[in-house]
Amino acid sequence: MISQNTIQQILGRIDIISVIGDFIKLKKRGASYLGLCPFHNEKTPSFTVSPAKEIYKCFGCGRSGNTISFIMEHEKYSYVDALKWLANRYNIEIEETFATDEQRQQQQSADSLYIINNFAQEFFSKTLFETEEGQDIGLSYLKERGFREDVIKKFKLGYSPEQRDAFTKEAIAKQYSQELLLKTGLVVNRNDQLIDNYRSRIIFPIHNTSGKVLGFGARVLKTTDKAPKYINTPENEIYVKSKILYGSYFARQAIDKADECLLVEGYTDVVSLHQAGIENVVASGGTSLTQEQLRLVRKYSNNLTIIYDGDAAGIKAALRGLDLALEEGLNVKLVLIPDKEDPDSYVNKVGAAAFIQFIQKNKKDFILFQLEVALKDAGTDSTRKAEVVNRMAETISKINKAEDFTKQQDYIKQCSEILKIDENGLHALVNKFIRERIVTQERKFSSTEDNNFVPEPARTDWSDETFNVLFMKELQERAIARIILEYGLKPWSDGTTVFDYMSNAKLFEDKDIPDDKNISLILEEELYDNKRVPLIINEYAFMYKRGLNPTVKEFAYHENNELAILAIETTNHPYELSPRWSQDEMATKVNRRIWDLNYKDFFDEAINGKDSDKVVYHHELDDNYKDDVNDVMIYLKLKKIKRLILTNEHDMKKTQTPEDMRTLIEAHNFLKGQQMALASKKHIAIYPF
Ligand code: CTP
Ligand code: MN
Repeated sequence: MISQNTIQQILGRIDIISVIGDFIKLKKRGASYLGLCPFHNEKTPSFTVSPAKEIYKCFGCGRSGNTISFIMEHEKYSYVDALKWLANRYNIEIEETFATDEQRQQQQSADSLYIINNFAQEFFSKTLFETEEGQDIGLSYLKERGFREDVIKKFKLGYSPEQRDAFTKEAIAKQYSQELLLKTGLVVNRNDQLIDNYRSRIIFPIHNTSGKVLGFGARVLKTTDKAPKYINTPENEIYVKSKILYGSYFARQAIDKADECLLVEGYTDVVSLHQAGIENVVASGGTSLTQEQLRLVRKYSNNLTIIYDGDAAGIKAALRGLDLALEEGLNVKLVLIPDKEDPDSYVNKVGAAAFIQFIQKNKKDFILFQLEVALKDAGTDSTRKAEVVNRMAETISKINKAEDFTKQQDYIKQCSEILKIDENGLHALVNKFIRERIVTQERKFSSTEDNNFVPEPARTDWSDETFNVLFMKELQERAIARIILEYGLKPWSDGTTVFDYMSNAKLFEDKDIPDDKNISLILEEELYDNKRVPLIINEYAFMYKRGLNPTVKEFAYHENNELAILAIETTNHPYELSPRWSQDEMATKVNRRIWDLNYKDFFDEAINGKDSDKVVYHHELDDNYKDDVNDVMIYLKLKKIKRLILTNEHDMKKTQTPEDMRTLIEAHNFLKGQQMALASKKHIAIYPF
């Protein structure tokens, strides 16, 4: 672990403008800087960096974060690697701390393995290019296969000579420990003699995502040999096969840009596709995908295209990964390469352009492909067909996120056509699986909640809530967090702050209601559908109480990274809705596309000169925040009242005595009156753009 002291030093030195300025050109605009977003393709700049808050945000693609997350995102580094990068940039020496001796030893051992691997990689490269044997055997083999020298160098391919201990001797002379050499798999023990493990083989170094060599794949030159075609590094502290995707270091930025990851089987496939200019490609090494590998893909893109040769083994291996991939939220496509070719031989045969075209044309949807294979297997057997229907419904039910709703509908439609069954029937079956899952989840959930509360329709109940309405709710809730983060410390009245006002606001200020029944509205967790919003608010309240000065900047470097990202995501979005809540007015009118358009117009104007000094965020106008605060509170009050009305109605249905009924009706009328009064106070407007 990097010591807290080092982290503090780094944070103290960070200048977000100069760090991000290393990667993209930034222009000053008002209080912020503006540039072309490095995370998506655009012609007009939407990427803003705020030096005061030390955060960046793209209004085009929505990505946002602090200096560290920028390096993580842009360079695809881990948190630790990003810190190391920054430390290096600012010449800060890294001090590492270890919780236990065991950890220290592990770290030292891992470091040593990297060092040996790096030494070995250089040895093999040198042998390939600078020795006669390397050139005559290794390099000529690679060239014969069509690999260009620049690509061989980029992937740092090498050659291990025939001599039985060429590498071992050099490594021992360098005083690397025998134990560690054996651990790397570069050296093996034969009859008490240490010898090279990869003799007479082409060497493919395998890099981790930050470019360090984890291990090697070593290929024989002639497949006629009885020896195994590849020898790979054995599992050790740094080489963990289930977590490795070959080529990820060279592909990460291309995957991010293309928003698609191509997955092939072999080392040579990756290298050849790179050579053809297709760089968003990684290899699994021929085994079926693990969850860790899928997560690695998902760090860069949600779209995974598997390119395998069309033989049965390849397809089976690919299909095994499907359910896992769906659960990870990936969109999976499949392309089968024809005629016993693999991507390497195929791209060599047809050329880059034709290869790309082939991929585009032959992408099959993976779920539909699975259905075809299963149907073919089932033949005319009706029980087996019923099984297929069930399995498909279950598969489809796993796509169950708000943003994937239309995707699910599409699958139901397409699958019911292929299966020749009634669409509504399949729909019902899918819903059954979804419901079952919700019920089990809710059972877990409700045991920890108080049971008097009648819940609003669940999020997954789509029948009466359109996507837009849900989306609006989400935005309104986030607006509450945003307003607290941005304006919490601003004055409200008589020496109080906005946060004082908000946290003290009660539902019925004028009524004599016991305090424990009339608690601070903004702190009522169950009022929020998005449970991450109260997370921020609670932390804010915690920091506020202790005088910890909870500003956006403070949050952006919160030690809890999740909170930091949440806070950044939540703040200062120029096209974000104000928390006006009238659903009928807005749900239909407003959607993301309209905001994007408005926003683009705005920036075009600002940048192309017309009104260029008017680039002012709405939130930076000083006196608007009080309106926003009032609106937020009205929104929360109305939400609470709606819940009280529902609970009350629920009680009415159960009540027996006329007296009870009268009390409930009175309560109902009171709540309705409050609702009307509040509703009339609402503002109906959207932020200027
Ligand atoms: N593989 C392996 N061990 C083997 C065979 C294969 O680890 N004995 C892995 C390697 O990662 C290899 C991938 O499976 O890259 C695909 O195997 P294959 O298609 O046989 O090899 P290619 O890399 O395509 O090699 P070539 O094109 O030279 O035949
Ligand atoms: Mn091949």
